[in-house]
Amino acid sequence: MTAAVEIRGVRRSFADVAVLKGVDLSIRRGEFVALLGRSGSGKSTLLRILARLDQPDSGLVDGTENTAVVFQEARLLPWERVASNVAMGLTRAEARARVRNALDEVGLSHRWNAWPATLSGGEAQRASLARALVREPHLLLLDEPFGALDALTRITMHELIIELCDRHRPAVFMVTHDIDEAIKLSDRVLVIDQGRIDRELRIKRLADGSVAPDFGDKARADLLDALGVNRTARSRPVLLSAS
Ligand SMILES: Nc1ncnc2c1ncn2[C@@H]1O[C@H](COP(=O)(O)OP(=O)(O)OP(=O)(O)O)[C@@H](O)[C@H]1O
Ligand SMILES: [Mg+2]
Repeated sequence: MTAAVEIRGVRRSFADVAVLKGVDLSIRRGEFVALLGRSGSGKSTLLRILARLDQPDSGLVDGTENTAVVFQEARLLPWERVASNVAMGLTRAEARARVRNALDEVGLSHRWNAWPATLSGGEAQRASLARALVREPHLLLLDEPFGALDALTRITMHELIIELCDRHRPAVFMVTHDIDEAIKLSDRVLVIDQGRIDRELRIKRLADGSVAPDFGDKARADLLDALGVNRTARSRPVLLSAS
């Protein structure tokens, strides 16, 4: 199957510091790829290039024409109501039905007329997800989208994102600090280190979509190794940085 998104030999420096030193990555339609890496390792830099918010100094980037991004903060316009935030960029004719569907899909129909300031953190992220999905993106970019949510809301959002991705089948690229989240949601987990993709792990799933406990333990240990994190931390949930 051909890749929906492909980058080859991508390099990016700021001043004289090389952050990306030749990154190759391809993601197929319907594939969920997570990227782990230490703080400052270049994860958001890579995501911004995929989002066309930044350009590489050199290298090939292909398949990023129809892309939507969800960041850690919902980034809603405070002076627009929820429905108008979701409709942003759509023509008036196409907006109404599509916005209604998108809000429905994220379970936020009842808040369509609310001001962003009155939303809970989880609701704001649902609105941000609706704003991304309403465009039917081929590539969905997630930069620590659940990082600011409490543990329970995060679990609900995980279920929601799995359901939405199954239905819409975009290529997904998610940056996260949470190893367990990466294993739970992804088909493949990558680790970036020293400006390059240093490790790639394909996640094996059982028929019900879950990960076998022994595979999960091994995946976790491998990823901790790749991240250079002390092995004694293995039995606890791992967040690589508080952000
Ligand atoms: N516009 C910029 N100008 C200068 N330096 C930048 C710029 N954007 C990123 N950097 C630097 O590039 C490096 C990588 O930043 P990036 O935001 O990609 O890291 P990250 O892996 O996303 O980190 P975190 O996990 O903390 O979000 C950092 O040292 C950062 O300071
Ligand atoms: Mg970042």
